[in-house]
Amino acid sequence: MADINTCLRSYESLFFQELSEVNTAQELELFRTKHLSRHGELSKLMQQLKDLSLEEKKTAGPLLNVLKVKVSDAFTQREKEFEQMRIDHQNMLLTHFDVTAYKPVQPTGSLHPYTQVIEIIEDIFVSMGFEIVDGPEVETDYYNFEALNIPKDHPARDMQDTFWLTLPGLLMRTHTSPVEIHAMRDRKPPLAIVVPGRAYRNESTDASHDFMFMQLEGLFIDKNVSLAQLFATMKTFLQTFFEKKNIAIKIRPSYFPFVEPGVEIDMSCPFCTHGCSVCKKTKWIEIGGAGLCHPVVLKAGGIDPKEYGGFAFGFGLTRLVMLKYGITDIRLLHSNKIDFLKQF
Ligand code: PHE
Repeated sequence: MADINTCLRSYESLFFQELSEVNTAQELELFRTKHLSRHGELSKLMQQLKDLSLEEKKTAGPLLNVLKVKVSDAFTQREKEFEQMRIDHQNMLLTHFDVTAYKPVQPTGSLHPYTQVIEIIEDIFVSMGFEIVDGPEVETDYYNFEALNIPKDHPARDMQDTFWLTLPGLLMRTHTSPVEIHAMRDRKPPLAIVVPGRAYRNESTDASHDFMFMQLEGLFIDKNVSLAQLFATMKTFLQTFFEKKNIAIKIRPSYFPFVEPGVEIDMSCPFCTHGCSVCKKTKWIEIGGAGLCHPVVLKAGGIDPKEYGGFAFGFGLTRLVMLKYGITDIRLLHSNKIDFLKQF
């Protein structure tokens, strides 16, 4: 009898000792399993009751019941304390919520390679005294062809496959040259303008052709304008753009109805000296057309060709972007592919 009594008391003190050492909700759960579950310590004590004599059961039974109530009350109490602690902690987090502490990771955007190159080009030409000009992408037959000395049925129209609109006489401009006419009409000479802008041609697409691409038009009008001025401007621009002082240009005679003489300009490959994949082993890269403004064009722009002359050029701006960044497929530039655009 003394045995069961001692046993109960020592269990009670063990129970309270261990309960006081519980520090977390997890530990409390482990404690519950150890002491109060079906196979826990308390159940084991109850089991022992079975082996006692009837006499002993009479005293030990109520004692055990008292103990059972006592320990489970203590446990419930502790459980409540933990729950309260949890609620308090939650409230603390809510009332002390620091809005500045949460900084979601935000992917940053970047400028399209076109935009970046246009900004560089504009800076270069502005530093040379040129003005940046814009013009319409939907044009009339007159501005895109007629005023540029390309009359109806002129074979030169075949050089540029045109997207005609359903409204008669309207088209998507096939080059940025029509802006030359707008600019001449809007200003008085002397004038120096550059026009970065889109052009459209009804062509099938491949890695180096798209139905939409960008050009850089330039027009300079003054008295006594010479080809030398044109070439010097081209060379200065290309050397500054590619950041290479030793870039040379090569002039080939060519034909564009709106210039006379007309030339095609190549530049020495900025990436090699012996020929590489970019220049297709030729050491030269085609940059665009140019020439001295045709008198018919000056007249269409309201400028007297006897008094003024000018030079004009039309570069492949898309080409310059591709060269600058080593882009080998033009379609990527117009694809909106995030993985591609993220690189710039
Ligand atoms: N407009 C011509 C083209 O698209 C380029 C050019 C512009 C040529 C100005 C000469 C002068 O091919």
